[in-house]
Amino acid sequence: MYVCICARVAEREVRSAIHSGASSEQAVRDACGAGTGCGACADRICELIDELGSRTRDTFAALRG
Ligand code: FES
Repeated sequence: MYVCICARVAEREVRSAIHSGASSEQAVRDACGAGTGCGACADRICELIDELGSRTRDTFAALRG
């Protein structure tokens, strides 16, 4: 499923960019091109950053005990 229709970027590509360290809209844009057109996908990109970012934080917190 595409997150960004303009750049034809699938959700898995955005997730991969975030997993690789992209933690802002700009970083996701630079990493995979999502959000480089009309901007309609910005909310979804932010949701994914929040979702995966908090999951990463939760994982690190769990590892620290
Ligand atoms: S849908 Fe992503 S920039 Fe247009």
